[in-house]
Amino acid sequence: MANHGEKRWRLVLTASPLQGHMTPMLHLATFLHSKGFSITIAHSNLNPPDPSSHPGFTFVPLNDMSTVNTDFAGAGQFLKTLNDNCRPYFKEHLVDIMNAQKDAACEKETIVIIHDNLMSFAASVAGDLGLPAIILRTSSASTFPAMKIIPSLIQEGRFPVEDSMLQEIVQELHPLRYKDLPFINLPIQHALEVINMIIPKTPPVAILWNTLEFLEPSALAQIRDHYKVPIFTVGPLHKIIPAPSTSFYEEDTSCISWLDKQAPKSVIYVSLGSIAKVDDKVLTEMAWGLANSNQPFLWVVRPGSVKGFEWIEFLPEGLVHEMKLRGLIVKWAPQKEVLAHNAVGGFWSHCGWNSTLESMFEGVPMVCQPFELDQKINSRYLSCVWKMGLEIVVERKEIEGVIRRVLVGKEGEEMRQRGMEIKEKIRVAISHGGSSNNSLNEVVDFILSL
Ligand code: UDX
Repeated sequence: MANHGEKRWRLVLTASPLQGHMTPMLHLATFLHSKGFSITIAHSNLNPPDPSSHPGFTFVPLNDMSTVNTDFAGAGQFLKTLNDNCRPYFKEHLVDIMNAQKDAACEKETIVIIHDNLMSFAASVAGDLGLPAIILRTSSASTFPAMKIIPSLIQEGRFPVEDSMLQEIVQELHPLRYKDLPFINLPIQHALEVINMIIPKTPPVAILWNTLEFLEPSALAQIRDHYKVPIFTVGPLHKIIPAPSTSFYEEDTSCISWLDKQAPKSVIYVSLGSIAKVDDKVLTEMAWGLANSNQPFLWVVRPGSVKGFEWIEFLPEGLVHEMKLRGLIVKWAPQKEVLAHNAVGGFWSHCGWNSTLESMFEGVPMVCQPFELDQKINSRYLSCVWKMGLEIVVERKEIEGVIRRVLVGKEGEEMRQRGMEIKEKIRVAISHGGSSNNSLNEVVDFILSL
Protein backbone atom coordinates (compact mmCIF):
# COMPACT_ATOMS: atom_id res chain seq x y z
CA MET A 1 0.00 0.00 0.00
CA ALA A 2 2.82 2.40 0.91
CA ASN A 3 4.22 2.10 -2.58
CA HIS A 4 2.36 4.36 -5.02
CA GLY A 5 3.98 3.70 -8.34
CA GLU A 6 7.46 5.16 -8.08
CA LYS A 7 6.88 6.72 -4.65
CA ARG A 8 8.02 4.97 -1.48
CA TRP A 9 7.85 6.03 2.16
CA ARG A 10 10.34 5.66 5.00
CA LEU A 11 8.93 6.37 8.43
CA VAL A 12 11.57 7.29 11.01
CA LEU A 13 10.04 6.62 14.42
CA THR A 14 11.84 8.16 17.37
CA ALA A 15 11.15 6.17 20.50
CA SER A 16 11.62 7.31 24.10
CA PRO A 17 13.66 5.04 26.44
CA LEU A 18 10.76 4.62 28.89
CA GLN A 19 8.78 1.37 28.92
CA GLY A 20 5.38 3.06 28.87
CA HIS A 21 6.43 5.00 25.76
CA MET A 22 8.51 2.40 23.89
CA THR A 23 5.76 -0.26 23.90
CA PRO A 24 3.06 1.80 22.13
CA MET A 25 5.64 3.17 19.65
CA LEU A 26 6.71 -0.36 18.64
CA HIS A 27 3.07 -1.43 18.31
CA LEU A 28 2.46 1.54 16.04
CA ALA A 29 5.58 0.68 14.03
CA THR A 30 4.39 -2.93 13.64
CA PHE A 31 1.02 -1.71 12.36
CA LEU A 32 2.55 0.74 9.87
CA HIS A 33 5.01 -1.89 8.67
CA SER A 34 2.07 -4.24 8.02
CA LYS A 35 0.73 -1.50 5.71
CA GLY A 36 3.88 -1.56 3.60
CA PHE A 37 5.84 1.38 5.03
CA SER A 38 9.59 1.02 5.56
CA ILE A 39 10.36 1.53 9.24
CA THR A 40 13.42 2.97 10.94
CA ILE A 41 13.47 3.11 14.75
CA ALA A 42 15.80 5.80 16.07
CA HIS A 43 16.42 5.20 19.76
CA SER A 44 18.50 6.27 22.72
CA ASN A 45 21.31 4.02 23.98
CA LEU A 46 19.35 3.81 27.18
CA ASN A 47 16.88 0.88 27.21
CA PRO A 48 17.31 0.07 23.51
CA PRO A 49 14.70 -2.11 21.76
CA ASP A 50 15.73 -5.60 20.66
CA PRO A 51 16.31 -5.60 16.86
CA SER A 52 15.99 -9.40 16.69
CA SER A 53 12.32 -9.07 17.69
CA HIS A 54 11.63 -6.84 14.68
CA PRO A 55 13.65 -8.22 11.77
CA GLY A 56 11.78 -6.05 9.24
CA PHE A 57 12.83 -2.75 10.84
CA THR A 58 16.04 -0.75 10.59
CA PHE A 59 17.38 0.35 14.00
CA VAL A 60 19.46 3.48 14.48
CA PRO A 61 21.12 3.87 17.91
CA LEU A 62 21.65 7.55 18.67
CA ASN A 63 24.77 6.87 20.81
CA ASP A 64 23.61 9.54 23.23
CA MET A 65 24.95 7.86 26.41
CA SER A 66 22.03 9.25 28.42
CA THR A 67 21.55 7.83 31.87
CA VAL A 68 18.15 7.31 33.39
CA ASN A 69 16.76 9.62 36.01
CA THR A 70 13.45 8.26 37.07
CA ASP A 71 13.10 10.60 40.00
CA PHE A 72 10.09 12.70 38.96
CA ALA A 73 11.66 15.85 40.43
CA GLY A 74 14.55 15.39 38.00
CA ALA A 75 12.31 14.74 34.98
CA GLY A 76 13.04 18.14 33.39
CA GLN A 77 16.80 17.71 33.57
CA PHE A 78 16.60 14.11 32.34
CA LEU A 79 14.50 15.11 29.32
CA LYS A 80 16.74 18.05 28.50
CA THR A 81 19.91 15.92 28.60
CA LEU A 82 18.25 13.15 26.59
CA ASN A 83 17.10 15.61 23.92
CA ASP A 84 20.41 17.51 23.79
CA ASN A 85 22.38 14.26 23.54
CA CYS A 86 20.23 12.59 20.88
CA ARG A 87 19.80 15.58 18.58
CA PRO A 88 23.18 15.62 16.73
CA TYR A 89 23.14 11.87 16.01
CA PHE A 90 19.59 12.06 14.72
CA LYS A 91 20.35 14.97 12.44
CA GLU A 92 23.48 13.31 11.13
CA HIS A 93 21.56 10.13 10.31
CA LEU A 94 18.83 11.99 8.42
CA VAL A 95 21.32 14.11 6.50
CA ASP A 96 23.13 10.91 5.47
CA ILE A 97 19.89 9.38 4.15
CA MET A 98 18.97 12.57 2.31
CA ASN A 99 22.42 12.87 0.75
CA ALA A 100 22.32 9.24 -0.35
CA GLN A 101 19.00 9.90 -2.03
CA LYS A 102 20.57 12.61 -4.17
CA ASP A 103 22.54 9.82 -5.79
CA ALA A 104 20.53 8.87 -8.89
CA ALA A 105 21.14 5.14 -8.35
CA CYS A 106 19.61 5.22 -4.87
CA GLU A 107 15.93 4.41 -4.33
CA LYS A 108 13.88 7.57 -3.60
CA GLU A 109 11.83 7.56 -0.43
CA THR A 110 9.59 10.20 1.16
CA ILE A 111 10.80 10.54 4.74
CA VAL A 112 8.28 11.18 7.52
CA ILE A 113 9.27 11.56 11.18
CA ILE A 114 6.99 10.13 13.87
CA HIS A 115 8.29 10.97 17.31
CA ASP A 116 7.39 10.40 20.94
CA ASN A 117 6.36 13.72 22.42
CA LEU A 118 9.21 13.50 24.96
CA MET A 119 11.71 13.28 22.07
CA SER A 120 11.05 16.83 20.94
CA PHE A 121 14.52 17.16 19.34
CA ALA A 122 13.13 15.06 16.46
CA ALA A 123 10.61 17.80 15.64
CA SER A 124 13.23 20.51 15.62
CA VAL A 125 15.56 18.45 13.38
CA ALA A 126 12.61 17.71 11.07
CA GLY A 127 11.96 21.48 10.94
CA ASP A 128 15.62 22.19 10.07
CA LEU A 129 15.54 19.66 7.23
CA GLY A 130 12.05 20.48 5.93
CA LEU A 131 10.62 17.06 6.80
CA PRO A 132 7.08 16.50 8.13
CA ALA A 133 6.86 15.50 11.82
CA ILE A 134 4.00 13.64 13.47
CA ILE A 135 3.77 13.24 17.26
CA LEU A 136 2.74 10.06 19.07
CA ARG A 137 1.22 10.83 22.50
CA THR A 138 1.26 7.91 24.93
CA SER A 139 -0.39 9.53 27.94
CA SER A 140 -4.09 10.26 28.41
CA ALA A 141 -5.59 13.13 26.40
CA SER A 142 -6.92 14.63 29.64
CA THR A 143 -3.32 15.46 30.59
CA PHE A 144 -3.28 18.13 27.89
CA PRO A 145 -5.83 20.62 29.31
CA ALA A 146 -4.36 20.07 32.79
CA MET A 147 -0.85 20.95 31.63
CA LYS A 148 -1.92 23.76 29.36
CA ILE A 149 -3.62 25.62 32.18
CA ILE A 150 -0.60 25.58 34.51
CA PRO A 151 1.21 28.63 33.03
CA SER A 152 -1.94 30.76 33.49
CA LEU A 153 -2.47 29.41 37.03
CA ILE A 154 1.14 30.41 37.77
CA GLN A 155 0.49 33.92 36.44
CA GLU A 156 -2.60 34.21 38.64
CA GLY A 157 -0.62 32.98 41.65
CA ARG A 158 -2.74 29.82 41.93
CA PHE A 159 0.03 27.25 41.30
CA PRO A 160 1.46 25.68 43.35
CA VAL A 161 -1.28 26.28 45.90
CA GLU A 162 -1.77 26.31 49.66
CA ASP A 163 -2.69 22.97 51.21
CA SER A 164 -6.20 24.23 52.02
CA MET A 165 -6.93 24.57 48.29
CA LEU A 166 -5.65 21.16 47.28
CA GLN A 167 -9.04 19.47 47.54
CA GLU A 168 -10.78 22.18 45.53
CA ILE A 169 -11.93 21.46 42.01
CA VAL A 170 -10.19 23.56 39.35
CA GLN A 171 -13.35 25.00 37.77
CA GLU A 172 -12.01 24.86 34.23
CA LEU A 173 -10.91 21.24 34.62
CA HIS A 174 -13.84 19.60 36.41
CA PRO A 175 -13.60 16.98 37.99
CA LEU A 176 -9.87 17.54 38.63
CA ARG A 177 -8.72 19.04 41.93
CA TYR A 178 -5.58 21.13 42.34
CA LYS A 179 -3.86 18.12 43.83
CA ASP A 180 -4.48 16.13 40.65
CA LEU A 181 -2.48 18.56 38.51
CA PRO A 182 0.88 17.34 37.27
CA PHE A 183 4.09 18.83 38.70
CA ILE A 184 2.35 20.39 41.71
CA ASN A 185 5.37 19.47 43.84
CA LEU A 186 7.98 20.84 41.46
CA PRO A 187 9.49 24.32 41.64
CA ILE A 188 7.60 26.55 39.18
CA GLN A 189 10.56 26.87 36.81
CA HIS A 190 10.98 23.07 36.57
CA ALA A 191 7.26 22.60 35.94
CA LEU A 192 7.34 25.14 33.12
CA GLU A 193 10.42 23.59 31.54
CA VAL A 194 8.80 20.16 31.35
CA ILE A 195 5.50 21.57 30.08
CA ASN A 196 7.27 23.54 27.35
CA MET A 197 8.99 20.37 26.26
CA ILE A 198 5.78 18.31 26.25
CA ILE A 199 3.51 20.91 24.63
CA PRO A 200 5.39 22.05 21.52
CA LYS A 201 5.16 25.67 20.35
CA THR A 202 5.35 24.67 16.66
CA PRO A 203 2.46 22.36 15.81
CA PRO A 204 3.30 19.04 14.18
CA VAL A 205 1.53 18.04 10.94
CA ALA A 206 -0.62 15.61 12.94
CA ILE A 207 -0.85 13.93 16.34
CA LEU A 208 -1.58 10.26 16.97
CA TRP A 209 -3.01 9.79 20.44
CA ASN A 210 -3.08 6.42 22.20
CA THR A 211 -6.63 6.89 23.45
CA LEU A 212 -10.22 6.37 22.30
CA GLU A 213 -12.82 8.95 21.22
CA PHE A 214 -15.47 7.79 23.70
CA LEU A 215 -13.14 7.90 26.72
CA GLU A 216 -11.98 11.53 26.63
CA PRO A 217 -14.29 13.55 24.35
CA SER A 218 -13.90 16.89 26.13
CA ALA A 219 -10.09 16.80 26.29
CA LEU A 220 -9.93 15.74 22.65
CA ALA A 221 -12.17 18.64 21.64
CA GLN A 222 -9.81 21.05 23.43
CA ILE A 223 -6.77 19.45 21.80
CA ARG A 224 -8.35 19.76 18.33
CA ASP A 225 -9.24 23.37 19.01
CA HIS A 226 -5.69 24.14 20.19
CA TYR A 227 -3.60 22.45 17.50
CA LYS A 228 -5.86 22.74 14.46
CA VAL A 229 -4.08 19.76 12.86
CA PRO A 230 -5.50 16.23 12.41
CA ILE A 231 -5.69 14.37 15.74
CA PHE A 232 -5.99 10.60 15.27
CA THR A 233 -7.19 8.52 18.23
CA VAL A 234 -5.52 5.18 17.66
CA GLY A 235 -5.77 3.43 21.02
CA PRO A 236 -5.38 1.08 22.61
CA LEU A 237 -2.29 0.43 20.49
CA HIS A 238 -1.46 -2.82 22.32
CA LYS A 239 -4.68 -4.30 20.92
CA ILE A 240 -4.41 -2.97 17.37
CA ILE A 241 -1.91 -5.52 16.17
CA PRO A 242 0.02 -8.34 17.89
CA ALA A 243 3.67 -7.35 18.36
CA PRO A 244 6.64 -9.17 19.92
CA SER A 245 7.33 -8.45 23.61
CA THR A 246 8.95 -5.07 24.13
CA SER A 247 9.70 -5.59 27.80
CA PHE A 248 12.91 -4.04 29.20
CA TYR A 249 12.87 -6.62 32.01
CA GLU A 250 12.63 -10.39 32.03
CA GLU A 251 9.03 -11.48 32.57
CA ASP A 252 8.48 -14.04 35.32
CA THR A 253 5.95 -16.30 33.61
CA SER A 254 5.68 -18.64 36.62
CA CYS A 255 2.94 -16.34 37.89
CA ILE A 256 0.59 -17.58 35.16
CA SER A 257 0.67 -21.18 36.42
CA TRP A 258 0.18 -19.79 39.95
CA LEU A 259 -2.87 -17.82 38.72
CA ASP A 260 -4.21 -21.00 37.09
CA LYS A 261 -4.61 -22.46 40.60
CA GLN A 262 -6.60 -19.51 42.00
CA ALA A 263 -10.38 -19.09 42.06
CA PRO A 264 -12.02 -16.84 39.42
CA LYS A 265 -11.80 -13.07 40.18
CA SER A 266 -10.14 -13.76 43.54
CA VAL A 267 -6.66 -12.24 42.99
CA ILE A 268 -5.53 -8.63 43.39
CA TYR A 269 -2.69 -7.87 40.96
CA VAL A 270 -0.36 -5.13 42.20
CA SER A 271 2.12 -3.22 40.02
CA LEU A 272 3.31 0.37 40.12
CA GLY A 273 4.68 0.47 36.56
CA SER A 274 8.18 0.97 35.27
CA ILE A 275 9.25 4.31 36.73
CA ALA A 276 7.76 5.02 40.17
CA LYS A 277 9.99 4.70 43.22
CA VAL A 278 8.64 4.29 46.76
CA ASP A 279 9.98 4.57 50.31
CA ASP A 280 10.49 1.37 52.28
CA LYS A 281 7.82 2.58 54.73
CA VAL A 282 5.26 2.80 51.92
CA LEU A 283 6.18 -0.66 50.66
CA THR A 284 5.94 -2.06 54.19
CA GLU A 285 2.40 -0.62 54.58
CA MET A 286 1.49 -2.16 51.22
CA ALA A 287 2.84 -5.52 52.38
CA TRP A 288 0.86 -5.44 55.66
CA GLY A 289 -2.30 -4.38 53.82
CA LEU A 290 -1.93 -7.26 51.38
CA ALA A 291 -1.16 -9.79 54.12
CA ASN A 292 -4.08 -8.68 56.29
CA SER A 293 -6.60 -8.58 53.44
CA ASN A 294 -6.65 -12.38 53.41
CA GLN A 295 -7.06 -12.30 49.62
CA PRO A 296 -4.69 -13.94 47.12
CA PHE A 297 -2.35 -11.43 45.50
CA LEU A 298 0.25 -11.21 42.77
CA TRP A 299 2.66 -8.37 43.54
CA VAL A 300 5.30 -6.95 41.18
CA VAL A 301 8.14 -5.24 43.02
CA ARG A 302 10.66 -3.98 40.47
CA PRO A 303 14.26 -4.34 41.65
CA GLY A 304 15.54 -0.86 42.53
CA SER A 305 12.04 0.57 42.94
CA VAL A 306 12.41 0.95 46.72
CA LYS A 307 14.68 3.87 47.51
CA GLY A 308 17.95 2.71 49.09
CA PHE A 309 17.29 -1.03 48.69
CA GLU A 310 17.87 -3.68 46.06
CA TRP A 311 14.52 -5.38 46.42
CA ILE A 312 12.39 -6.37 49.45
CA GLU A 313 15.19 -7.47 51.81
CA PHE A 314 14.04 -4.98 54.49
CA LEU A 315 10.60 -6.60 55.01
CA PRO A 316 10.39 -8.48 58.34
CA GLU A 317 10.79 -12.24 57.90
CA GLY A 318 7.53 -12.99 59.71
CA LEU A 319 5.64 -10.71 57.33
CA VAL A 320 7.18 -12.31 54.24
CA HIS A 321 6.28 -15.74 55.61
CA GLU A 322 2.69 -14.55 56.22
CA MET A 323 2.49 -13.14 52.69
CA LYS A 324 3.77 -16.29 51.00
CA LEU A 325 0.79 -18.21 52.43
CA ARG A 326 -1.54 -16.62 49.91
CA GLY A 327 0.47 -14.49 47.54
CA LEU A 328 3.28 -14.36 45.04
CA ILE A 329 5.88 -11.60 44.74
CA VAL A 330 7.71 -11.28 41.41
CA LYS A 331 10.16 -8.79 39.90
CA TRP A 332 8.32 -8.27 36.60
CA ALA A 333 5.22 -9.95 35.21
CA PRO A 334 3.71 -10.50 31.75
CA GLN A 335 1.14 -7.85 32.68
CA LYS A 336 -1.21 -8.06 29.72
CA GLU A 337 -1.49 -11.84 30.16
CA VAL A 338 -2.02 -11.40 33.89
CA LEU A 339 -4.83 -8.88 33.41
CA ALA A 340 -6.49 -11.18 30.86
CA HIS A 341 -6.42 -14.09 33.35
CA ASN A 342 -9.77 -15.13 34.76
CA ALA A 343 -8.36 -15.35 38.31
CA VAL A 344 -7.59 -11.61 38.45
CA GLY A 345 -10.39 -9.61 40.09
CA GLY A 346 -8.65 -6.26 40.64
CA PHE A 347 -5.57 -4.25 39.65
CA TRP A 348 -3.84 -2.05 42.24
CA SER A 349 -1.93 0.32 39.99
CA HIS A 350 -0.07 3.63 39.74
CA CYS A 351 -2.48 4.41 36.87
CA GLY A 352 0.12 4.88 34.14
CA TRP A 353 -1.79 5.24 30.89
CA ASN A 354 -0.74 1.87 29.44
CA SER A 355 -1.73 0.06 32.61
CA THR A 356 -5.04 1.92 32.64
CA LEU A 357 -5.82 1.01 29.02
CA GLU A 358 -4.71 -2.59 29.56
CA SER A 359 -6.98 -2.92 32.62
CA MET A 360 -9.90 -1.28 30.84
CA PHE A 361 -9.47 -3.60 27.89
CA GLU A 362 -9.90 -6.58 30.23
CA GLY A 363 -12.67 -4.92 32.28
CA VAL A 364 -10.63 -5.26 35.51
CA PRO A 365 -11.54 -2.74 38.28
CA MET A 366 -8.66 -0.74 39.69
CA VAL A 367 -7.26 0.44 43.00
CA CYS A 368 -5.54 3.75 42.26
CA GLN A 369 -2.22 4.81 43.79
CA PRO A 370 -0.95 7.54 41.44
CA PHE A 371 2.45 9.26 41.72
CA GLU A 372 3.04 11.95 39.08
CA LEU A 373 2.56 13.06 35.47
CA ASP A 374 -0.79 11.93 34.07
CA GLN A 375 -1.24 9.29 36.76
CA LYS A 376 -3.19 11.52 39.19
CA ILE A 377 -5.45 12.64 36.35
CA ASN A 378 -6.04 9.05 35.21
CA SER A 379 -6.79 8.04 38.79
CA ARG A 380 -9.36 10.82 39.19
CA TYR A 381 -11.05 9.90 35.92
CA LEU A 382 -11.05 6.21 36.83
CA SER A 383 -12.85 6.91 40.09
CA CYS A 384 -15.13 9.83 39.12
CA VAL A 385 -15.83 9.54 35.42
CA TRP A 386 -15.21 6.00 34.20
CA LYS A 387 -16.23 4.65 37.62
CA MET A 388 -14.05 1.58 37.57
CA GLY A 389 -11.46 2.56 40.20
CA LEU A 390 -11.13 3.41 43.89
CA GLU A 391 -8.51 5.91 45.06
CA ILE A 392 -6.44 4.69 47.98
CA VAL A 393 -4.43 6.19 50.83
CA VAL A 394 -1.47 3.92 51.48
CA GLU A 395 -2.11 2.80 55.05
CA ARG A 396 -2.44 -0.86 55.98
CA LYS A 397 -6.01 -0.75 57.42
CA GLU A 398 -7.30 1.24 54.44
CA ILE A 399 -5.54 -1.08 51.97
CA GLU A 400 -7.02 -4.15 53.62
CA GLY A 401 -10.53 -2.64 53.37
CA VAL A 402 -10.18 -1.39 49.79
CA ILE A 403 -8.90 -4.75 48.52
CA ARG A 404 -11.95 -6.49 50.02
CA ARG A 405 -14.29 -3.82 48.61
CA VAL A 406 -12.90 -4.45 45.13
CA LEU A 407 -12.66 -8.25 45.25
CA VAL A 408 -15.68 -9.29 47.29
CA GLY A 409 -17.82 -6.17 47.88
CA LYS A 410 -20.84 -4.82 46.02
CA GLU A 411 -18.81 -1.82 44.81
CA GLY A 412 -16.31 -4.19 43.20
CA GLU A 413 -19.18 -5.97 41.46
CA GLU A 414 -20.50 -2.64 40.11
CA MET A 415 -17.05 -1.54 38.94
CA ARG A 416 -16.57 -4.92 37.24
CA GLN A 417 -19.89 -4.44 35.46
CA ARG A 418 -18.79 -0.95 34.39
CA GLY A 419 -15.43 -2.40 33.31
CA MET A 420 -17.21 -4.91 31.08
CA GLU A 421 -19.19 -2.08 29.44
CA ILE A 422 -15.97 -0.17 28.75
CA LYS A 423 -14.32 -3.34 27.47
CA GLU A 424 -17.17 -3.83 24.99
CA LYS A 425 -16.91 -0.22 23.79
CA ILE A 426 -13.18 -0.66 23.21
CA ARG A 427 -13.81 -3.90 21.33
CA VAL A 428 -16.24 -2.04 19.04
CA ALA A 429 -13.78 0.87 18.56
CA ILE A 430 -10.99 -1.40 17.35
CA SER A 431 -13.25 -3.56 15.15
CA HIS A 432 -13.93 -2.89 11.48
CA GLY A 433 -15.75 0.47 11.21
CA GLY A 434 -14.97 1.44 14.84
CA SER A 435 -13.41 4.82 15.73
CA SER A 436 -9.85 3.64 16.42
CA ASN A 437 -9.87 1.29 13.46
CA ASN A 438 -11.05 4.09 11.17
CA SER A 439 -8.46 6.48 12.64
CA LEU A 440 -5.63 4.09 11.86
CA ASN A 441 -6.77 3.76 8.27
CA GLU A 442 -6.93 7.56 8.07
CA VAL A 443 -3.37 7.74 9.44
CA VAL A 444 -2.19 5.57 6.55
CA ASP A 445 -3.99 7.78 4.01
CA PHE A 446 -2.67 10.91 5.72
CA ILE A 447 0.95 9.72 5.50
CA LEU A 448 0.46 8.74 1.87
CA SER A 449 -0.79 12.28 1.19
CA LEU A 450 2.43 13.89 2.52
C1 UDX B 1 4.98 6.14 32.21
C2 UDX B 1 4.21 7.06 33.12
O1 UDX B 1 4.39 6.64 34.45
C3 UDX B 1 2.77 7.09 32.76
O2 UDX B 1 2.11 7.96 33.62
C4 UDX B 1 2.59 7.49 31.33
O3 UDX B 1 1.22 7.44 31.02
C5 UDX B 1 3.36 6.55 30.43
O4 UDX B 1 4.72 6.50 30.85
P1 UDX B 1 4.92 3.63 33.28
O5 UDX B 1 5.25 3.97 34.68
O6 UDX B 1 5.88 2.83 32.55
O7 UDX B 1 4.56 4.85 32.33
O8 UDX B 1 3.46 2.95 33.34
P2 UDX B 1 2.51 2.45 32.21
O9 UDX B 1 2.13 3.52 31.25
O10 UDX B 1 1.39 1.80 32.91
O11 UDX B 1 3.37 1.38 31.42
C6 UDX B 1 3.94 0.26 32.03
C7 UDX B 1 4.02 -0.85 31.03
O12 UDX B 1 4.84 -1.87 31.59
C8 UDX B 1 2.68 -1.47 30.71
O13 UDX B 1 2.55 -1.69 29.33
C9 UDX B 1 2.70 -2.79 31.45
O14 UDX B 1 1.98 -3.83 30.81
C10 UDX B 1 4.18 -3.11 31.51
N1 UDX B 1 4.48 -3.93 32.69
C11 UDX B 1 4.46 -3.38 33.95
C12 UDX B 1 4.78 -5.25 32.51
O15 UDX B 1 4.78 -5.75 31.37
N2 UDX B 1 5.10 -6.00 33.60
C13 UDX B 1 5.10 -5.51 34.86
O16 UDX B 1 5.41 -6.26 35.78
C14 UDX B 1 4.78 -4.15 35.04
